[in-house]
Amino acid sequence: MENINWSELTFGYMKTDYNVRCYYRNGKWGELEVSSSEILNLHMAATCLHYGQESFEGLKAFRGKDGQVRVFRMDENAKRMQSSSRGILMAELPVEKFEEAVRKVVRLNERFVPPYESGSSLYIRPLLIGTGAQVGVKPADEYMFLVFVTPVGPYFKTGFQPVPVCIMRDYDRAAPHGTGTIKVGGNYAASLVAGEKAKQAGYNAVLYLDPKEKKYIDECGPANFFGIRGNSYITPASNSILPSTTNKSLMQFAEDMGLTVERRPIPVEELSTFEETGECGTAAVITPISKIDDLDVNKSYVYATDGKPGPVCEKLYNKLRGIQYGDEPDPYGWVQIIE
Ligand code: PLP
Ligand code: COI
Repeated sequence: MENINWSELTFGYMKTDYNVRCYYRNGKWGELEVSSSEILNLHMAATCLHYGQESFEGLKAFRGKDGQVRVFRMDENAKRMQSSSRGILMAELPVEKFEEAVRKVVRLNERFVPPYESGSSLYIRPLLIGTGAQVGVKPADEYMFLVFVTPVGPYFKTGFQPVPVCIMRDYDRAAPHGTGTIKVGGNYAASLVAGEKAKQAGYNAVLYLDPKEKKYIDECGPANFFGIRGNSYITPASNSILPSTTNKSLMQFAEDMGLTVERRPIPVEELSTFEETGECGTAAVITPISKIDDLDVNKSYVYATDGKPGPVCEKLYNKLRGIQYGDEPDPYGWVQIIE
């Protein structure tokens, strides 16, 4: 513990002291339980193992200059997990229970919340799985909700620096009317092959196109996509992308900064008209994009020619981090201090 180099953390797993669990049995949720074990005791026929009845979330806690610990918009994660549950027929966890579990697990692992100066944060990973045994393709009758935490640095090694991404038309992460709008493990399994291929070719992520027509921009690996042109913040509307809380927040900032927010299908060709582009998400925060290589048609869209984040990306990034770490007032009521 004494040896953690807080400012050199990567986005990886590190054991912490406790996790919080809650079980759904006989049609109702039980009380929160605290565990110090990293191991689950699971039925071999649990539906999460066979039929992908699994959903997860990702949010962060930040330590401010004042030493206080803040969690960002956790009600959004709670509601999204409910939406995921409806999407794959799992028991819905009440928002209050979700929030109570998050507060509890952060408090119990307070010594793992990185110091303000490090720029790192505590990643919070809620998980909901079907634990009941089935052999036929049916929803389970028992579920387990769990939250663990782990201190993290930037998702992309480079942090707030522009990174290259690529378009590969041979891969989709979700189907047109599939599970793209909810946060379920299968979407991430489906993205592994393309993701590895991209990494090996020197790219940071895959920029997916809409799976139906391959005409419009969808999202960027584990993050939403946005483009800046003139006075506009432009981000895809699509029924195969995850509604990102970070993106929602950036749209609000953009509007309050006097930008016009456009949420609509973005044709691939429009990439050539943007002055800045970026990926956004809890893990990615804002990661500016340096270039987008459309590999199948051998076309490149170049943005950060000087290797630096653009001015609008930078402004949005500072606003987001400022509110999350408590450096700036939070007029939106998005931050909850963990007492
Ligand atoms: N898109 C996908 C596929 C993701 O996995 C995530 C991360 O949760 C996001 C977008 C960003 O969402 P959020 O800003 O809520 O973290
Ligand atoms: C997040 O941004 O929290 C994510 O879940 C992205 C990734 C680690 C799956």
